[in-house]
Amino acid sequence: MNRPAVRRRRATDLDGCVAALAEVHRVDGYPLNWPADPHRWLREPHPARAWVAVDADAAVVGHVAVHRIPDQVDGPPGRPTAEVARLFVVPKARGLALGSALLDRARQWADKRATDLVLELAAGGTAAAALYERAGWRCVGTSTAPWAAPDGSPVSLRHYTLRHRAPGSDVAPASTARRRASRPAASRSSGGSSTSIS
Ligand SMILES: CC(C)(COP(=O)(O)OP(=O)(O)OC[C@H]1O[C@@H](n2cnc3c(N)ncnc32)[C@H](O)[C@@H]1OP(=O)(O)O)[C@@H](O)C(=O)NCCC(=O)NCCS
Repeated sequence: MNRPAVRRRRATDLDGCVAALAEVHRVDGYPLNWPADPHRWLREPHPARAWVAVDADAAVVGHVAVHRIPDQVDGPPGRPTAEVARLFVVPKARGLALGSALLDRARQWADKRATDLVLELAAGGTAAAALYERAGWRCVGTSTAPWAAPDGSPVSLRHYTLRHRAPGSDVAPASTARRRASRPAASRSSGGSSTSIS
């Protein structure tokens, strides 16, 4: 597969996003609980920005969104923070560094706004954990999700953060795309089925 392009999500992409999400859910169990209204799940809470990866046939093969996290009403003003959510790449497009490219878009968006990023990952999301840690995210703690797995069992969440980088401090690692160009797509498993709604 030629490397798909990453661009901002448009309203007309939502059907394609839901189709891609359905495939990821079937193969990887992400999200752990299939949303009652997947279009709405991708649209809400109203994302500050969302991006898609689209292939040569204009099919959506990847997605990510960032959601602003408001300051606590009665708390002191904190650093601006946003959550990275709804990150997925369809199985046939994996291994092309699309997950990294989507995550990079979120990071660039945050860096321009001096915004820290956070995200939650359900225990067992091996591929996603490797992706985040490789991209410099730090696991800062764990908790039990306020929602349960489909079988009713509790779900453990790992919390990751990525502090915003000051302008000029952008030390880009060797291009993941270049490193990965010779690797066939879908050459790895996604790392399990326990990633959650996040
Ligand atoms: C996680 C996911 C988005 C990765 O997509 P991808 O496009 O294949 O990721 P990339 O090609 O950019 O991988 C970048 C790095 O992540 C790590 N990685 C990705 N998939 C991996 C896997 N299956 N096993 C081990 N490491 C993996 C590697 O370090 C990789 O770099 P390398 O190949 O040079 O070593 C994809 O597997 C997915 O959609 N999973 C299901 C949904 C999900 O878990 N979403 C996260 C919700 S919080």
